[in-house]
Amino acid sequence: MIFNPFKSLRFRVFLMVFFTGLVSCLVIHFAIIESYENRAVSVRESEVSTQLMILANHLINYNYFSDTTSDVINAELDLIANLYDGRVMVIDNNLQIRKDTYGISDGKIIISEEVVKCLKNGTAGASTVYDRNNGYIEMTAPITETLTFESGDVAAGEKSQDVVRGVLLISVSTEYIRNTMNILTRRAVSIELIAVILILVSAWWGSGKLLRPFDRITSAINDVKAGFTNEPIEGSQYYETEHIINAFNQLLQRMNALDASRQEFVSNVSHELKTPITSMKVLADSLIMQDDVPNEVYRDFMEDIAAEVDRENQIINDLLELVKMDKKATSLNITTVDVVQMMEVIMKRMRPIARKRNIELTLETTREISAEIDEVKLSLALMNLVENAVKYNKEDGWVKVKLDADHKSFTCEVSDSGIGIPEDSLDKIYQRFYRVDKSRSREIGGTGLGLSITHSAILMHRGTIDVQSIEDEGTIFTVTIPLKYMQSQE
Ligand SMILES: Nc1ncnc2c1ncn2[C@@H]1O[C@H](COP(=O)(O)OP(=O)(O)OP(=O)(O)O)[C@@H](O)[C@H]1O
Ligand SMILES: [Mg+2]
Repeated sequence: MIFNPFKSLRFRVFLMVFFTGLVSCLVIHFAIIESYENRAVSVRESEVSTQLMILANHLINYNYFSDTTSDVINAELDLIANLYDGRVMVIDNNLQIRKDTYGISDGKIIISEEVVKCLKNGTAGASTVYDRNNGYIEMTAPITETLTFESGDVAAGEKSQDVVRGVLLISVSTEYIRNTMNILTRRAVSIELIAVILILVSAWWGSGKLLRPFDRITSAINDVKAGFTNEPIEGSQYYETEHIINAFNQLLQRMNALDASRQEFVSNVSHELKTPITSMKVLADSLIMQDDVPNEVYRDFMEDIAAEVDRENQIINDLLELVKMDKKATSLNITTVDVVQMMEVIMKRMRPIARKRNIELTLETTREISAEIDEVKLSLALMNLVENAVKYNKEDGWVKVKLDADHKSFTCEVSDSGIGIPEDSLDKIYQRFYRVDKSRSREIGGTGLGLSITHSAILMHRGTIDVQSIEDEGTIFTVTIPLKYMQSQE
């Protein structure tokens, strides 16, 4: 057999825990790094934007556009450029670069969407672009001059107006943010590596521990299988294992019960089969030991031996019948049968035995009944009931058989005026070899198999059997069988 790890519950639990741990690690990693980056960039942006505002004011105050040689301003521009490790450009409202701290674009015209927008819209048009890949922030800020007018110079009473004289364009390096991020990432990765190893170990250990109760159940079941013990398994940690244990214990209980009943059955069978043989041996021995035995005695003894052989034969036949019944419903031979007629045949067979003890045997029917049954098996079942009713009766007693039916099933009630069955025996009479009064029953010729055969045959037809009895007064057996045979689902 090829080992497939995905069939192992432990491996799956391990994978689940491991991946959950791993994914959380990664999520935390990226969330932290990203939030650091966002925050660092936004801090830098606000810093730079303040600087630009101050610078723009200075540019206006120093009238920089008229004279770009101002040392103070140029020094300030260089200072800012150095401070942020970047480049500052001063652009006038004709899009001409008046000052570039890199000193390479002075006097050139710049065509940039951001610059144009800023020139047009003033503060509202100022823009900030963070280029992560190239590692810089580019910002524009308007250089605004506020002109004041004497009242009345301008319509609608305006007193002052902002005029955009130019634009400051700055690009600021974010190298240091990236460096910090790299350091952070390196440190995080080493922490994560340790975390992953910890998760790996604890996932493997945890999954094993989680599933240990299952291993314990398996080994307990193996003990039972190997025959070391027949005791129920105890101690469960989870509801899930408790369910398995309960189911297994019930199975074990059933097995034990079956085992016990099998042992009892075997001992009963051997006992029953031995009894006639012992009698025959005794009879034969007594003939052998005596000399000159008269012919009549021989004959007498031989008759007794023949009767014992018959009895042995009967027991064997009954046992075979029971074995056949045990093969379940597949062996049923279902036909549509006239139940009244079948019962009449049974009564006819029982009459000679009943007559011997002057027992009155009557059949009562109200209507025609036809049902889908196995005629041989069911007729044997009902005959056993009538036979018992005659056998366990008194001299001059009576046996009544009543047949009735509704649209679903028919019932057969066998009542007698016999010796009755004690109440504590009522639930045992269907057991194999069970007899209420063993000595009496043996005298009458019973082996205690008749009712088990009857019971099995009725169950095979999905019918029911019920008994009511009063000692010394009589017994009533009621059998109900469905008119239509239902194939079992098995
Ligand atoms: N109608 C009855 N009245 C009184 N006792 C009964 C009646 N039917 C059955 N019993 C009791 O139930 C026992 C079991 O009956 P069952 O038919 O299984 O066996 P049996 O008659 O002894 O032997 P077998 O039928 O195998 O020849 C009988 O031994 C008897 O004690
Ligand atoms: Mg019987």
